[in-house]
Amino acid sequence: AWTMGAFRERAIARIREQVGTGRVICGLSGGVDSSVAAVLIHEAIGDQLTCVFVDHGLMRQAEADEVVSLFRGHYNIPLVHVDASELFLKELEGVEDPEAKRKTIGRLFIDVFDAEAKKVGGADFLAQGTLYPDVIESVSFAGGPSVTIKSHHNVGGLPERMNMKLVEPLRDLFKDEVRALGRELGLPESFVGRHPFPGPGLAIRCPGAITQEKLDILRKADAIYLEEIRYAGLYDVIWQAFAVLLPVRTVGVMGDGRTYDHVLALRAVTSVDGMTADFYPFDMGFLGRTATRIINEVKGVNRVVYDVTSKPPGTIEWE
Ligand code: XMP
Repeated sequence: AWTMGAFRERAIARIREQVGTGRVICGLSGGVDSSVAAVLIHEAIGDQLTCVFVDHGLMRQAEADEVVSLFRGHYNIPLVHVDASELFLKELEGVEDPEAKRKTIGRLFIDVFDAEAKKVGGADFLAQGTLYPDVIESVSFAGGPSVTIKSHHNVGGLPERMNMKLVEPLRDLFKDEVRALGRELGLPESFVGRHPFPGPGLAIRCPGAITQEKLDILRKADAIYLEEIRYAGLYDVIWQAFAVLLPVRTVGVMGDGRTYDHVLALRAVTSVDGMTADFYPFDMGFLGRTATRIINEVKGVNRVVYDVTSKPPGTIEWE
């Protein structure tokens, strides 16, 4: 029978065989996929692995700290943590087009990662947490002609530039299988069960040009939304839930004053693998409560809307 325990053993054997006595470098994104890949590879080859966490400053609230403490504290895996948030923000200034944002972030990620890899003395192999859906979705779209819907910054790019061979132990797995493998490897449930998060981070949840101020507003609103989802016991039922800060301001009234602030959209979907998705049918009480909390607690937002688009025709992320 096919079990995760058996997959783990086989994957470890395969990594050892591929890598031999070579050195491997792994880019952590903060998400489940690259973390599971890193822990698995570390189990296979120990300190032949170096992990580099390029922190682009586009993570959710408290997320970067969680990654650092998981690796350094829980697993004792050597980790280079690079805070590149200022560089990313500067280069993204005024960039409005979704693909231009993705490409800018992908390019900077490679630059920063490459520089760090050289500092640690280089490596023969590059490890990535690429999953099966990443492989197919970045190439073609559901039965139609080959069309790139979105440039995924975690697939391609690095290997050619750095002249390294790829180690991609999760290439045949779907998300739920990666989670099962993560549990098998002893990653905490709070980490393994986390909703997926895109490589370009909050930048693609802020349509239009991003600013530090917008990111801060989005982070606060997103945290409240996820907190309400957890209170309601819905976190594990939902594949992914997040807020999107729109580049639109509307007029409102609070207390006895006029406001003119941003619109925030809430998104939540159910899905099996992220390839197709249905919007989540919250009850109106939940939505009303969450909207009230966000508007009361987050300065800069005075209107909240809910996205009822499934995939297709919408994608899960807005950009
Ligand atoms: P879309 O928006 O294409 O997203 O329906 C499908 C799933 O992929 C995630 N996503 C990404 N993940 N790098 C990633 O690692 C990316 O560039 C990226 N773009 C989207 C998205 O959050 C959803 O789970």
